[in-house]
Amino acid sequence: MALLYIHIPYCDSKCYYCSFNSYTSKHDTKSSYISALERSLEFELDRFKIGKSGLESIFIGGGTPSTIEPSLYKNIFRQLNSFIKDGAEITVEANPNSASIEWLDGMFQLGVNRVSFGVQSFYDKKLKILNRVHSSREAKGAVLDAYRVGFRNISVDLIYGVVGDSRELLKRDIATALSLPINHISTYELTIESGTKFYDTPEVKYLNDALGYYVRDEIVEGGFQQYEVSNYGRYRSIHNLGYWSLKSYIGVGAGAVGFLDNMRLYPHRDISRYIDNPTWSDVEMLTRDDIITEKIFLGLRSEVGLERDILTPDMQRRADHLVKFNRLKLEGGVYKNSNFFLSDELTLSILTD
Ligand SMILES: C[S@@+](CC[C@H](N)C(=O)[O-])C[C@H]1O[C@@H](n2cnc3c(N)ncnc32)[C@H](O)[C@@H]1O
Ligand code: SF4
Repeated sequence: MALLYIHIPYCDSKCYYCSFNSYTSKHDTKSSYISALERSLEFELDRFKIGKSGLESIFIGGGTPSTIEPSLYKNIFRQLNSFIKDGAEITVEANPNSASIEWLDGMFQLGVNRVSFGVQSFYDKKLKILNRVHSSREAKGAVLDAYRVGFRNISVDLIYGVVGDSRELLKRDIATALSLPINHISTYELTIESGTKFYDTPEVKYLNDALGYYVRDEIVEGGFQQYEVSNYGRYRSIHNLGYWSLKSYIGVGAGAVGFLDNMRLYPHRDISRYIDNPTWSDVEMLTRDDIITEKIFLGLRSEVGLERDILTPDMQRRADHLVKFNRLKLEGGVYKNSNFFLSDELTLSILTD
């Protein structure tokens, strides 16, 4: 069983914090881009040996998938039809300004059953600081529209750790999110990435370690469980859990990433180069050690946990030491971490003496 990620590299404007592979000025390439996606899909489905019903999850992310009309996605869904398992999770990311009710309905009709909105905040002033192009009202309206057209799996993304943030502001942002018909929230602490506008003004980051815990407690009190350091839900995303368990995933689109056995696959990032050669990818070979490190890191930052059997005897000894001091639990041969915010530190303790 595999996962599929489809990258849509178009945005209406560039948010000041964002380093994702997305362009605001190349919208005229959309239809040739979609044709290129179809070619890479054909190639990758074959390379990954995906059989009938072999995809348990599809995630269309970006960039901004809602910059592309549902009709343009039609052929892709036709192409994927026999590969999609019954009950598969099919998610699309959407921005509140472009996810009109018609767009949402069109995607729902194609078979998409989950929508993840980039909201970031319900405060217009904060949205301006981040250079978001939607208002708080539009964000609430988009979530309600998604529910109205039939979506029952709806997620919102929020960002915290921005100058001007306070406990009161975040409390209200979370309360607003929880008052909407959603079953999942992702909350990301602002990171200052090189190549972004914020890189030149790092003072926009509000450094406060306690904020993450505050956000977690507010959301958990609202009835959502934390199942990864940044993810909470009454529903746990199959796609997310698949990534954190290091399942194979196909990645198609400019700047997408794929993972198969011990290979990471990187198609072209540049849109024109991708369109010219959609089946090309750079291959990174991972060693056994790389894969173990990845499994430790991903497993401890989420509910997935870490299988004891995959560790070297030295690593097992160090992990058992953490169990002895109640920093990890060992349940049925799997180490479990109950404080995901400490996952980096715990990973390091297992990797090094
Ligand atoms: C792939 S992005 C795109 C989603 C969608 N285009 C949108 O912005 O509405 C997914 C999420 O990552 C988060 N994100 C991106 N860059 C970030 C950064 N530098 N710091 C914190 N969160 C970030 C945002 O919450 C964003 O919604
Ligand atoms: S956060 Fe989303 S909308 Fe903003 S630039 Fe990045 S991908 Fe585009």
